[in-house]
Amino acid sequence: MASFSTRDSKTIFFFFGLRAACLSLCLVGSVAELQRFEHPPKADGSLSFLVVGDWGRRGLYNQSQVALQMGLIGEKAEIDFVISTGDNFYEDGLTGVDDPAFNESFSNIYTAPGLNKQWYNVLGNHDYRGDAEAQLSPVLRTIDKRWLCLRSFIVNAEIVDFFFVDTTPFVDDYFTNPKNHTYDWRGVTPREDYLSNLLKDVDSALKDSSAKWKIVVGHHTIKSAGHHGVTQELVTQLLPILKANNIDFYVNGHDHCLEHISDTHSEINFFTSGGGSKAWRGDIKWWSPEELKLYYDGQGFMSIQMTKASADIAFYDVFGNVLHKWSLSKHLRSATNRTFTYA
Ligand SMILES: *[C@@H]1O[C@H](CO)[C@@H](O)[C@H](O)[C@H]1NC(C)=O
Ligand SMILES: *[C@@H]1O[C@H](CO)[C@@H](O)[C@H](O)[C@H]1NC(C)=O
Ligand SMILES: *[C@@H]1O[C@H](CO)[C@@H](O)[C@H](O)[C@H]1NC(C)=O
Ligand SMILES: *[C@@H]1O[C@H](CO)[C@@H](O)[C@H](O)[C@H]1NC(C)=O
Repeated sequence: MASFSTRDSKTIFFFFGLRAACLSLCLVGSVAELQRFEHPPKADGSLSFLVVGDWGRRGLYNQSQVALQMGLIGEKAEIDFVISTGDNFYEDGLTGVDDPAFNESFSNIYTAPGLNKQWYNVLGNHDYRGDAEAQLSPVLRTIDKRWLCLRSFIVNAEIVDFFFVDTTPFVDDYFTNPKNHTYDWRGVTPREDYLSNLLKDVDSALKDSSAKWKIVVGHHTIKSAGHHGVTQELVTQLLPILKANNIDFYVNGHDHCLEHISDTHSEINFFTSGGGSKAWRGDIKWWSPEELKLYYDGQGFMSIQMTKASADIAFYDVFGNVLHKWSLSKHLRSATNRTFTYA
């Protein structure tokens, strides 16, 4: 079982060691709970972070330009951490913990002081084409202490709880029609058990959450007008749980673009931040204009600033220009009474 020591003084980051030790002793063979991390907000109660996805290409396809702007915006916004929505290393993940791609696509790219923060990463389908377990290894954290990647986990940030969900094993095609790709399914088989346990864990963790905001992060899309479009498996299996638990945002990558899509049937907002490197696919699908607030086909990233009562979202392009801004206020007494502001 991994254990973590306290990070730099600004990022208080620790592992519930006792709880994990008990779980590994007491719950072997039954449903394992998701690992939890604490990441307290700033002293004034606010929290600020960036979201980037689909990035690891040794700086190519504007990855370095996106990284530069993330550094500038990250410094200005005094971010607490960065979230990666997966597809961390192209084309086929890492070959092992000693793969130089880790340095060439991560450490040596996101060098700005503003990005010297904790990174919370999930795996994408391309990561599963390599040694998926390498990305989960504590060895990478010794090479670059910012790195943390797990399949599924929770970050408690007081005002908001983040639920990171491993979405790749949900996609049937990777199992039934893998084309010429091989996937590293170690640790996720038998698949049916893995998925049903994961859904149970996410549901019960969401039910237990008393945070004002709930944000779910996964690699694959639920709502997307991009190349891949919706991931039907997630619509069928994960979305009902997200709706039943009144989550606020679902944040993903996979489609190499930036999107904001609202939902006429629920209060969930869907954000795609998959513009970390290669983009400009050019095959946008129709989406109801009532729901589609932003579709940007190119590179960029997203920032979120939150307090107990409000969330401010912005999307940026490779020049740091704001493409779309959106704010949401929550009255403190009612989860359903909200005010929307468009800018
Ligand atoms: C890099 O970004 C610029 C500005 O959006 C764009 O014109 C160019 O095509 C991008 N390059 C690549 C390789 O995507
Ligand atoms: C990555 O870079 C660090 C420091 O720059 C170095 O110690 C390490 O050996 C490098 N690792 C790989 C796999 O290239
Ligand atoms: C799969 O690999 C074979 C042999 O290398 C190649 O001929 C074929 O075009 C590949 N198919 C795809 C879909 O990439
Ligand atoms: C939201 O809550 C406020 C304060 O309780 C109330 O005045 C307002 O009418 C509510 N709005 C809606 C749409 O329910």
